[in-house]
Amino acid sequence: MVLSTGSKKIKTAVFISGTGSNLKSLLKFSKLKKSPISIEMIVSNNPKSKGLNFGKIYKIRKKIFNFKKQASAEKEILLKLEKNKINLICLAGFMKILSKNFILNFKGQILNIHPSLLPKYKGLNTHEKAIRNKDEYSGCTVHFVNSKVDSGKIIIQKKVKIKKDDTPKSLAKKILYQEHKLYPKAILKISSL
Ligand code: GAR
Repeated sequence: MVLSTGSKKIKTAVFISGTGSNLKSLLKFSKLKKSPISIEMIVSNNPKSKGLNFGKIYKIRKKIFNFKKQASAEKEILLKLEKNKINLICLAGFMKILSKNFILNFKGQILNIHPSLLPKYKGLNTHEKAIRNKDEYSGCTVHFVNSKVDSGKIIIQKKVKIKKDDTPKSLAKKILYQEHKLYPKAILKISSL
C-alpha cells in the first residue's frame, strides 16, 4: 500500500457533494485513538452541501470549487492538497468524476464509497436497478479509484438483504447505515496492509 503511516496519522481530505453523512461518520472515526487518519480538509463542488456544516462543527477547513471549469478547479485543489500535505482522499458522496490527470497525481491514494455491490451497478440509481432486477441482495463497496468510474480495486463490501417491500428510498437508508460502518473498516484495512 502506498500509504505509509509511521507513527503519524494519515492526513486526509474528504470530498463531498451533498448531505455528508459519510463525512460525519469518518469525522467521528478520525477522532478515535485507533484511527489512522486525521481529516484536514473538506472539499466540495457544491456550496449548498449540507455536509459543509461539519467543517464548522469540527473546525476543519472547507474548500468549495466550481467544477464548471473542472481543469482549473482540479489544479487549485491539487495545490491546496499539496500545501496541506494530504496523503489520502476519501470520496464520500462526491458526484463529480475526477480527471485521469488528477487521479494520476494521487495514484493509489483515493478511495470511494459506492452504494452497490460492485462490479454490479456502477454509476447512478443503483437502488432502483437492484430492485428492478429483483436482486436478493444489494449493498455497498469501498474501492480504490482508478481512471474508470467505479472500477478500481475493491477493498471491502457489505451485503444488505432486499426485502419484497423495499423501495429505492428504504433500501438507500439501510445501505447508508452500513456505509457508515464500512468506510472506517476499509481505512483500517488499507492502513494495515
Ligand atoms: C452515499 O450513499 C454514497 O455511497 C453515494 O452517495 C451517498 C452520499 O451520502 N455515492 C455515490 O453514489 C457515488 N457514486 P452522504 O452525502 O450522506 O454521505
